[in-house]
Amino acid sequence: MIEDMLSLARTVRVRAYAPYSNYQVAAVVRGANGKLYAGTNVENIAYPVGNCAEASALAAMVADGETRIVEALVIGPEGDLCTPCGACRQRLREFADDSLPIHVADPTGVKKTVTLGEIFPLSFGPTILKK
Ligand code: THU
Repeated sequence: MIEDMLSLARTVRVRAYAPYSNYQVAAVVRGANGKLYAGTNVENIAYPVGNCAEASALAAMVADGETRIVEALVIGPEGDLCTPCGACRQRLREFADDSLPIHVADPTGVKKTVTLGEIFPLSFGPTILKK
């Protein structure tokens, strides 16, 4: 169900700490346990120290004891197709396989749904070392 993810993402996005880019983003991931975990981007005056919304959501999930994602949603400002950045595609890959559905949304709704494998093919995933 996308509606619960979208609703949480809308609520959380406006709390994003993005005073430098003014670009507020939220990510919501659904763990294999069925629970939703949300996060926002958190910028820093030392620009490279800032982190993406996806990293925040994944950190909340891991802290809760979950390490598998079954669905993800990323929401950016209205009119934008805010797809996960390259680094965040790798972050998601740690906890999901190529079939992971990623809903790309803005505050008006979901604009596009892609799979992780579509936007991050031939990835270097955890199965390579976990043999
Ligand atoms: N941003 C995210 O939080 N997730 C993404 O996948 C795309 C970019 C944030 C990082 C930065 O705080 C702002 O958007 C502008 O790049």
